[in-house]
Amino acid sequence: MPSSPPPLPSPLWPASLHHLALESADPERVSDFLAATLQMRWERTPGGGAVLAGPGRIIVVEPGSGTGARHVAYGLDSSGRVAELEARFAGRGVPTEPAESPFLEAGAFRVLAPDGAPDGIALLFGVPAEPPSAADGGGLSGRLQHVVFRTPAPEPLLSFLVDEAGFVLSDRVENDDRALTAGFVRSDPEHHSFAAFRASRPAFDHFALEAEGWNDLRDWADHFAELRVPIWWGPGRHGPGNNLFLMIRDPDGNRIEISAEMEHMDRDAPHRVWPLEERTLNLWGTAWMRT
Ligand SMILES: [Fe+2]
Repeated sequence: MPSSPPPLPSPLWPASLHHLALESADPERVSDFLAATLQMRWERTPGGGAVLAGPGRIIVVEPGSGTGARHVAYGLDSSGRVAELEARFAGRGVPTEPAESPFLEAGAFRVLAPDGAPDGIALLFGVPAEPPSAADGGGLSGRLQHVVFRTPAPEPLLSFLVDEAGFVLSDRVENDDRALTAGFVRSDPEHHSFAAFRASRPAFDHFALEAEGWNDLRDWADHFAELRVPIWWGPGRHGPGNNLFLMIRDPDGNRIEISAEMEHMDRDAPHRVWPLEERTLNLWGTAWMRT
């Protein structure tokens, strides 16, 4: 029998994580912490929030009663591809709406990915605008590279990301019953720009900066030590992604990962399946098992 032709690539490919908007009841405290730990400069915004920028990283902190991520934005390289991606969603019955962002050019749009919460996860897609001038400042290497969310229903979220948005599945982690406990998807050759972990309730899990190499993780750790910010998990090496990592926590409890050596995969490379065990989450030792 002839094999079926490979699916047409989604207009999403290639795209990379561009910026992240966090919600905080105390934007000033969180912004101060992020600016110091992640070597970013920050400015207040008229609504009581803040914009932080450093080399390769832009984070917005918006005032609110909750914590975690308000939205995550992915950058594409042309307005034509953004329009094609929006048309792909519309053709599949996924509602889209225009997204206003000072960091994205006109034509950006937003969709809601299902995570089991009433609102879902807001994903923005657009062409990156001129970065804030603060992004030109110096600092340790670490471009914003991936986000992870927790959800009680990872299969529908993963299906949405792959089937509707056009992310490519890189790895699944399954328990003894073959149920999905974590899924990793990519939007360019880097192993994942988004991942979902099964947990009892929807929540933001962490965001990650990708450093240029192992020595940068040492320098980041020394920098955190100077600030008396303890490493919360790591250093270690993840199974899926094979990336080196360490994590800290901000005052709101958001986990921040510094990563290096993220694996690359071709667009057409098949996904793999990992067993749910500590070694999968950390080849080097103990793991943070979400509940
Ligand atoms: Fe991560």
